Amino acid sequence: MRYCGVGTAVTAAGADSSVPSGIVRAVGMTGVGSHVPSRVLTNHDLERIVATTNEWIVSRTGMRERRIAAEHEATSDLAVVAGRRALEAAGVKPADLDMIVVATITPDYPFPNTACLVQRQLGADRAFCMGLEAACSGFLYGMETARCYIAAGAAQTALVIGAEKMSAVLDWTDRSTCVLFGDGAGAAVLRPVPAGRRGIISSVFGSDGSLSDLLMIPAGGSRRPATAETVAAREHCLRMRGREVFRYAVTHMAEAGLAALHKAGLSISDIRWVIPHQANLRIIAAIGERLHCPASRFIVNVEKYGNTSAASIGLALDEAVRDGRIREGDLVLMVAFGAGFTWGATVMEWTGRA
Ligand code: ACO
Repeated sequence: MRYCGVGTAVTAAGADSSVPSGIVRAVGMTGVGSHVPSRVLTNHDLERIVATTNEWIVSRTGMRERRIAAEHEATSDLAVVAGRRALEAAGVKPADLDMIVVATITPDYPFPNTACLVQRQLGADRAFCMGLEAACSGFLYGMETARCYIAAGAAQTALVIGAEKMSAVLDWTDRSTCVLFGDGAGAAVLRPVPAGRRGIISSVFGSDGSLSDLLMIPAGGSRRPATAETVAAREHCLRMRGREVFRYAVTHMAEAGLAALHKAGLSISDIRWVIPHQANLRIIAAIGERLHCPASRFIVNVEKYGNTSAASIGLALDEAVRDGRIREGDLVLMVAFGAGFTWGATVMEWTGRA
């Protein structure tokens, strides 16, 4: 057992003990993985649950189906499968991990954090583990957290996972929200990149807590602990003012994308692929217009999985890497927006195991 932290040089086997703590070095993704549960819930299935139609859902969101976890499956179970796949792709053993970050708004429990539960299942017993709550921006926030630790020499190898069992927090009588979300997990291994490679090039982040009421789960925390009344009023379920969220999502993802490009000294024409948070096809189209980027350069899978919150960018990234769309050296722009509000954008050179 050993310990990592700011100011503590990484000295374990596999780590570069010649890099002293405090040194900033380039960090990249060396492997990605994802996982979705096998049960498919189509729009036609939803027609039998709430007063909706396939046509409404497709025309307003672009979604056709989503995956729903089994009753016995929790967020950590989805996260572990995605995490194992990312480790395998990166050629990294669980025992080599210094750090595990799990971003989720649907943790297995209020505590312990879901990353510790993932650690237990992976057997990554040298890692320190933290949960991160930034809703749909969670994967990018998790990446940046891990990048900072690695860049500073406080960790060498990190596993970042965005995972959600959104089906556990949906009000299945509310047609305006239950049709939008799905379950899944996306994961990435982050490490220093070899000389000459760029890895993560730039990131920008922002938040606006004054708008937190627009998208939230009202009860179950310390402000409104669970009572028979909160359960009866379905206050443990997600509530969203969709139209307002839509507007802010477009504005912030587009602005963050442009800011990350500016910070990287790049323009949109340098970017091979844009991976937006998969909230809604209309939101993605509006971001494309503002970035002056054609739809053909967007990675989109919202039609298959709906909005998987913190899992969505990692899931889309993994699919595009595995099917060969994203290749070594490609520049990728990722943009995210979620409850809080939180938002961010990251520009990355895809390095893979290089
Ligand atoms: N089926 C049929 N009708 C519906 C449904 C449904 N599933 N849901 C809502 N409607 C109705 C409404 O009741 C409303 O009817 P009314 O005009 O008679 O009142 C009508 O459709 C239009 O509702 P709007 O809310 O205006 O529809 P809109 O075109 O804005 O689409 C949507 C709604 C899809 C929710 C959209 O606003 C959206 O995508 N918002 C953003 C979601 C998002 O980005 N989330 C990201 C963060 S998520 C996170 O962080 C966890």
